[in-house]
Amino acid sequence: MALSVEDIAVLFEVRGREMYGREAVSQLEHALQCAQLAEDAGAGPELVSACLLHDLGHLLAAPKGEMRDDVDDVHQYFAIPFLRGVFLDAVLEPIRLHVDAKRWLCAAEPAYWDSLSPASKHSLELQGGLFAESEAKKFIEQPHASDAVLLRRWDDLAKTPGRATPSLRHYLSVLESCQVAQNETDASTISAPSAAPASTSLG
Ligand SMILES: [Fe+2]
Repeated sequence: MALSVEDIAVLFEVRGREMYGREAVSQLEHALQCAQLAEDAGAGPELVSACLLHDLGHLLAAPKGEMRDDVDDVHQYFAIPFLRGVFLDAVLEPIRLHVDAKRWLCAAEPAYWDSLSPASKHSLELQGGLFAESEAKKFIEQPHASDAVLLRRWDDLAKTPGRATPSLRHYLSVLESCQVAQNETDASTISAPSAAPASTSLG
């Protein structure tokens, strides 16, 4: 089932108060802080939207009480079928790649691992640990991998209890601008004048 922007608003409303894993912020606080960090850094609407939605898989999965925390929940893939066809690839791909981006950063920047929270180090082990050299090279050559790395860095910082952020409504309007349908409409509007008869100016 494809999710609309309104469906996503309801999902955050219903499950956004759940805690973000072992961190001291809720799922909604984490999503808003991540989107805010991207926006403050001057990221485009697609990457800001990806930041807002990067952990949507957690909200679509079974409630945490029913989940084991000693297995990888592959949440980066879980939300993709619900978002494909609704949002642009520039939104979907950084979401899909954001866990691999952590594995890449640990391989590319040895100091990065030290900076991770205990919870994030725990999940890294479940997610396969740092990339080997060949895996790291293959990862970073993919389209949207560099955006996934940016998302990952903001993800790591979006865990500050009580931090003030713009509202969910603010980011839902950013999300609306990244819908496939919206962009198709915009493209047809822009290309419409070129479809006019070339002879008009000769009349
Ligand atoms: Fe996250």
